Amino acid sequence: MYQYDLTEEQLAIRQIVRRIAREKVAPRAAEIDETGEYPWDILEVFRKNDLMGIGIPEEYGGAGLGMLTLCIVIEEIAKVCATSSLIVAAQELGLMPILLAGSEEQKQRFLPKAATGEHITAFALTEPGAGSDAGAVKTRAVRDGDDYVLDGQKCFITNGGVADLYTVFATTDPEAGIKGLSAFVVPKDAPGFTIGKKEDKMGIRGSQTTELIFDKCRIPAENLLGEEGQGFKIAMMTLDRTRPGIAAQAVGIAQGALDYAVNYAQERKQFGRSIAAFQGIQFMLADMAAKVEAARQLVYKAAATIDKVDEGGEEFAALSALSAMSKLFASDVAMEVTTDAVQVLGGYGYMRDYPLERMMRDAKITQIYEGTNQIQKIVIARDLLK
Ligand code: CAA
Repeated sequence: MYQYDLTEEQLAIRQIVRRIAREKVAPRAAEIDETGEYPWDILEVFRKNDLMGIGIPEEYGGAGLGMLTLCIVIEEIAKVCATSSLIVAAQELGLMPILLAGSEEQKQRFLPKAATGEHITAFALTEPGAGSDAGAVKTRAVRDGDDYVLDGQKCFITNGGVADLYTVFATTDPEAGIKGLSAFVVPKDAPGFTIGKKEDKMGIRGSQTTELIFDKCRIPAENLLGEEGQGFKIAMMTLDRTRPGIAAQAVGIAQGALDYAVNYAQERKQFGRSIAAFQGIQFMLADMAAKVEAARQLVYKAAATIDKVDEGGEEFAALSALSAMSKLFASDVAMEVTTDAVQVLGGYGYMRDYPLERMMRDAKITQIYEGTNQIQKIVIARDLLK
């Protein structure tokens, strides 16, 4: 693989995570997919190796290493198991609203336990009637003395039933539409909060995706993030910063599939020689490698831009578009490359005894979650035409 301009520290972390992925995660990947059970043992490995708080600043107990390093970590894990890489990516998504909009007191209260992985977080925006149209959230939050009372339902929530803390978007002013949304931290044991249906998914099967049900759910008013009415902006700013993490997951899945296909092509013999000797296969592998590398460069660029947040400037102003481009491009590459990798293996690629059909199923979600690729195109086009 070609070197990006990574620091010594990032290269060292990549080596460490590559080893953890190979030794601890890869042997479990097929079983996690088969059972659909949350891999608590893998979470424990990540906790022990301080991988759960990579993006959290040091003053809140994290490693303070930023988004580019986080993307490298996600990519390395995704090469062998997309579900396991989502453990790290979803943690960042769930806690990002607190990082962006939390008060100093809220950051001190919530982030240290998220940084060690003692607390798992979840991001709860999507509802049955508010998917791509995220502003159409109907979950209601009403102020009642020192509390808010939440009523409504979320769906497709990653880490549902696993998380300790949920950042929940609800409307405090339905008349105000998008500008009436507010963001809250809901602990898993809040009265009136329950987990609904668990989804049976095509891919990332070990990741738990559930409904959340709020029935007169009472949380302290001090769990409001920012001010009432800022919720939509907080959600969008969060996704601007976390979409490259999903893009990194896509790059990892694609690279894992490419590596497998390259090895297989060298070993598999047909017509008296290895299939890698045929130009038809060589050209496929070359196209796959070029796409993966292009995707990686774009993801690292988006992540490095996020890490320059304090520097401001023109490039940072285009962050939404850059972040959307990284997810759009990398996830399409992941789908193409995993599909072609299955093709290189022929009939074997289609069989569950080999990991490629799982990688192809896992790749599909990267084109859908954290905003469908059609939404990413809207974000990019709006930046061009503004
Ligand atoms: N940063 C800051 N503010 C932003 C913003 C951004 N990136 N994008 C929009 N806003 C602000 C706008 O400036 C506007 O405010 P003003 O009127 O004051 O200017 C306000 O928000 C409304 O913006 P829009 O008019 O652009 O809103 P819209 O209704 O047209 O929607 C959208 C925009 C981009 C389509 C948005 O709805 C969207 O991103 N949808 C996709 C939702 C999504 O990604 N869901 C993912 C769920 S999480 C998940 O999938 C996780 C998982 O499983 C792991």
